[in-house]
Amino acid sequence: MPVSGNLQANMSNGTVEVNSGPEKEQESQVFEPPAEISKNAYVKSLDEYQAMYKKSISDPEEFWKDILADYHFEEKQSDDKPFFNYNFDMNQGPVSIKWLEGAKTNISYNLLDRNVKKGLGDTIAFYWEGNDPKDESKMTYGELLKEVCKFANVLKTLGVKKGDRVAIYMPMIIELPIAMLGCARIGAIHSIVFGGFSADSLADRMIDAQTSVLITSDGVWRGEKIIHLKEISDKAIAKCGDANLDVKHCIVVNHLPRLAVNKVDESTNQSPVKRKQFDYLTPFDETRDKWYHELMEKADDVCTPEWVDAEDPLFMLYTSGSTGKPKGVLHTTAGYMIYAATTFKYVFDYQPGDIYWCTADIGWITGHTYVTYGPLANGATSVIFEGTPFYPTNSRFWDVVDKYKVNQFYTAPTAIRSLMKFGDSFVKECNRSSLKILGTVGEPINPEAWLWYYNVVGDARCPIVDTYWQTETGGHVITPLPGATPSKPGSATFPFFGVVPVLLTEEGKEIEGPGEGYLVFKKPWPGMMRTVYGDHDRFETTYFKRFPGYYFTGDGAKRDNDGYIWITGRVDDMLNVSGHLLSTAQVESALIEHKAVAESAAVAMPHKVKGEALYCFVTLRDGFEFSSQLEGELKLKVREKIGAFAAPEVIQLAPALPKTRSGKIMRRILRKIAVGDSNFGDTSTLADESVIDLLLQHRPETA
Ligand code: WTA
Repeated sequence: MPVSGNLQANMSNGTVEVNSGPEKEQESQVFEPPAEISKNAYVKSLDEYQAMYKKSISDPEEFWKDILADYHFEEKQSDDKPFFNYNFDMNQGPVSIKWLEGAKTNISYNLLDRNVKKGLGDTIAFYWEGNDPKDESKMTYGELLKEVCKFANVLKTLGVKKGDRVAIYMPMIIELPIAMLGCARIGAIHSIVFGGFSADSLADRMIDAQTSVLITSDGVWRGEKIIHLKEISDKAIAKCGDANLDVKHCIVVNHLPRLAVNKVDESTNQSPVKRKQFDYLTPFDETRDKWYHELMEKADDVCTPEWVDAEDPLFMLYTSGSTGKPKGVLHTTAGYMIYAATTFKYVFDYQPGDIYWCTADIGWITGHTYVTYGPLANGATSVIFEGTPFYPTNSRFWDVVDKYKVNQFYTAPTAIRSLMKFGDSFVKECNRSSLKILGTVGEPINPEAWLWYYNVVGDARCPIVDTYWQTETGGHVITPLPGATPSKPGSATFPFFGVVPVLLTEEGKEIEGPGEGYLVFKKPWPGMMRTVYGDHDRFETTYFKRFPGYYFTGDGAKRDNDGYIWITGRVDDMLNVSGHLLSTAQVESALIEHKAVAESAAVAMPHKVKGEALYCFVTLRDGFEFSSQLEGELKLKVREKIGAFAAPEVIQLAPALPKTRSGKIMRRILRKIAVGDSNFGDTSTLADESVIDLLLQHRPETA
C-alpha cells in the first residue's frame, strides 16, 4: 500500500504526475496519545499544542524568550538589534536569516558547564555500547566537561583558531562528541564526514571546506568486520595534497584495541581502558599523525570558552546536491542550539531521569542534533551505540533497550523494515517495558512498518513520533508531540513551534485546505541553515529561486481533510536510499568515470527495505560489452566514489537513453522501466520512441 500520493515532479520541464493519495481508510486510522504519556507530558493535548503553536507564530519573540531564559548568554542581544531578521525573497535582495544577532554565547558552555552548575556533574551524559556486547563505558557531565576542555586545549596547541574548519571522520565513540564540542568551545567549525563515506568523498569535503586538521580513529567494528578508517583517511589526505590542501595534523583515536576490555575496577571505581594486544599496525606518519590519547594526557582540563556571536558558524555538514557536488550546509550557534534543545525536549518529551537512545550515526544530521546537541542541552542521559542492529543477533537493538532501560528510542524506517523481515520473535524475547516513546526519521514510513513498530516493538502502548526534517532545517519541523498529537500511520502530522509549512501549486499558489503540492516554509525558525558554505548563490538558487519568498524543501506533501501533513517524497533529482539522500547526478558522474561508460542515468526504484534503491542505465562506448564483470566493476566504482551505502541495486545496459528533442533525458520513462510498468503515458516528446522497446528488451530478468 503506498504511503500516500506519489508526486513525481520534474522541475525543469514542469511536469507533475499525481498518483493516488493516502487511502481513505488510512487517513481515518487514528491512534490517540496514551493517557499514561499525556498525563505527565510537557504538552498534554492537541488544544495545548495549538495554543503554544499560535503563540510561536504570532509572537515569536515572546515565545522564544521564555525558552532562552534557561540558557547562558555571556552578553544579551542589545535592544537596537532585531530579534529575528530575515529575507526569503530574492527579488527584495540577498536571502538572509539572522536570529539574536549580537548576543554572545558558547554552545559547549550551555551543554556542559551550565548543566554541571545545575548539579548534573555526576549524571551520566553518555552510556557507550560497543559493537561487542561486552564492550561498554560511560561518562558523566562532569567528566565530559573535562574531556572537552582538554580536547579544546589540544586543538589550540595545534594552532586551531575561531572560524577554522576541522574535519572529523570517526565512528560512534564518545571521542566523537568530545571532538565536536572541543571545536565548539574554541569557536572552530566542525565538518563531520560519515564514516561510511569513501576516501574520495572525504577528500572532496575536506577540500571544499579547506580543513587542515582531520580527526579520525584507527578503525571501527561493524559486526564481524573491521573498517580501517585511518587507511581511508590517508588516501583522502593524499588526494587533498593533489588539490594543494596541506593537511597539517591528523589526530587518531586508538579505538580498535579496546575490544571487550572495559570493566569497572572495583577498588578505584574507574573504568580504565586497557589496551589489549592487537596485531593490526595502524599506518602512522610521525610528523603529521598524532595519537589522541597522547595529546590528551598532556592537556589541561580547564578551558575558558570562546564567547561567539549568536550568528557565528557552529558547524557545516555536507548533503547531496542536485548538481552532484555536495553542499556544505552551514548552521550557526544560538539558533541551532535553542532549536535542537527545544525540539528534543518536546518531541521526545524527555523528562529528567529518562534514558534516551537515538541509533543514528553522528555523521548525519540526526546524530548531530539528536545524539549530541539536543540531548546534552537538556542534561539528558543517552546511549551511543557503535554497532549494528544485527550483531551478534537480530535482537541487539532490544537487548540494548533492556540493558539500559531505554525510555525513548529513535531510529529510521529502513532499520525497522530490515528487522521486520526476521519476524517478531527477536523482539518478543526482550522485555522492552522501559520504552515510552518511539521515534522515526529519514524517509516516509510505510504504514505496514509503522504498525509493526507500534504493535510489536511498542506493544501498542508507545506513541510514535514520525519526525520530518532535513539537514537544512537543523531540527524537526513537522512532527507529532507524543502526549498531544493523535497520530496517523505514515503522516508526520503538524508543524513544530515557529514553523509555517505551506503547500504550493506548480505556479507557486498557496493551497488552502486539503490538497497536494510542493512543500515550502514561509517563515524562518531559529535552527534553519544560514547558507551553503562558500557559496551563498547556490544557497539562494537551490532553496529560494523556484518559489521566491519561500524556503523550498525539495519534497512534495499532501494535506488531508483533518489538516494532517503527509510527506510524499522528493520532487527533485534526489533519492533516499535507507534514509540517506543521494543525487542522481552524483551517481551518474561516478559511473561515467569507468572507461566503458559513455553515458548513464540513475533513477530511484521502490525497495522493500531501503525505501528506495538505485536503478542505473549505462550506454557503453564502442568496443565494450556488457557483462556481469562490468556490472560488478560499475557497482564498485560507485562504492569507491561515494560509499558502500550508495551501491546500485540494478545496472542495465541501455543501447540508447530516452531523450527529448532538446536532448534532455526523460527520467519518467526510466522510472517506469525500473519498476516494470509499461504504461508510459505521453511519449510524443521523445526524439526517438523506439528507444523504449530497446530498453525493455535489455531489462534484466532479476530486476
Ligand atoms: C526525507 C534527515 C518523510 C525527506 C533528517 C527530506 C522524510 C530528506 C522524513 C532529508 C520523514 C526525512 N518522513 N520523509 N519523517 N524525514 N525525510 O537531510 O525527503 O538526510 O527532504 O535529513 O529525508 O534528509 P536529510
